[in-house]
Order: sequence, then structure tokens, then C-alpha cells
Amino acid sequence: MKTIVILISGRGSNMEAIVRTCAAERWKARIAAVVSNRPDAAGLVFAQAHGIATAVVDHKAFAERDEFDAALADVVAGYAPDVVVLAGFMRILSPAFVKRFEGRLVNIHPSLLPAFTGLHTHQRAIAAGCKLTGATVHFVTTELDHGPIIAQAVEPVLPGDTEATLSARLLAREHVLYPLAVRWIVEDSLRVNDGIVTHLSGEPQLIL
Ligand code: GRF
Repeated sequence: MKTIVILISGRGSNMEAIVRTCAAERWKARIAAVVSNRPDAAGLVFAQAHGIATAVVDHKAFAERDEFDAALADVVAGYAPDVVVLAGFMRILSPAFVKRFEGRLVNIHPSLLPAFTGLHTHQRAIAAGCKLTGATVHFVTTELDHGPIIAQAVEPVLPGDTEATLSARLLAREHVLYPLAVRWIVEDSLRVNDGIVTHLSGEPQLIL
């Protein structure tokens, strides 16, 4: 039985998708905790309603980023996670945090990395005239929004798309992509060689 800890900052819809899929597909895993840096994160309510332990490490209570990261890392480590899932977690984590969980720390980013690292990805894809965008699940390294790519989902950019319309369609793809990628980790189906992630049974790592 693998142990998963999910970090959120807000809505938590990706966390919800992972919780629901873990139960529906009977993964050999349990969501040990949902941890937020914001006490008012809406996702905490869903987690509590589903009997999942929650914790808040409020970044505003710490003067220094490193102190916050160390406190957060201790809370996360307390659950002895096999997988640490960043699901809309909006704080940049220090190298010390990343190193502590490297290899079992994953993130979802709403672009086809390495394009559009950082924020406002949908607006930037629309402004650049992209005809296609997507989402990426990747192992987290010390470089922001980089790290070995586990899986990607693509979504066309349609004429007249706004940030709201595009992000809503892409979010629905994220809710399929992220649980799939986390399941592969739980099943120990992935290998990383020279920064390239392959699925041992050749499962498609691209959702069209
Ligand atoms: C998602 O678009 C995700 O790709 C990005 O932040 C958003 C989080 O949404 N990292 P939610 O909190 O999972 O609903």
C-alpha cells in the first residue's frame, strides 16, 4: 500500500480527481493527507468530507521562505509519503524541500512544457497565437516547471478562446491526466533515464 500526500493552495479540483480515481480504480494506495499553505483553501473542505486528514502550514506565519519550507517538509514527511503530489500548490519550493522528496515529488503545469513555464500560461498561449496548448505532469526538480515529463495532454486553442474558456476545457483534461500519472507512480511503472520518463509497459504518455 503506497502513501500519497497532496499539497494544494486553493480549489483543489485536481486533488479531488486523484482522490476519486484512487477510490474508483482501487489503487493500492491511500491519500494520507491533504496539506495546504492557505487556511481558506476550498479543497480542504472536500478532503475533510472524505475522511482525509488535513493540515495547514500557513506561509504567512513564517518570516523566511526557508523556514516555511522546512516546516512544510516536516509536516509532509510526518506522513511518510511514497508520492508527494503538488496540485495547484502556488508556492515555489526551495531546493532543500525538492531534494528531500526528489523522485517522488510531482507537479501538474497547465502548458506543454517546456513552453510557458511560470504563471498566466493560457493568456500567454492565446496571445502568442498558439493553436495547441495542454498540460504536463512532471517530476519536480530544483528548476521551476522543469523536470522529467511523465505525461502530457493536448487541447486545441479555438478562435475566440479566453483564459476562462481555455482553462476550463484544459482543466477537464488535467482531471484525467493527473490521476493517470499518479497511478503509474503508485504502480511503480515508470523509469527515468537521462531525464526521459518511460512507461515500462509502453502506455501512451500523451493524451490527444
Ligand atoms: C491547475 O490548472 C493546475 O494545472 C495548476 O493550477 C491549477 C490548479 O487547479 N497548477 P485546482 O486547484 O487543482 O483546481
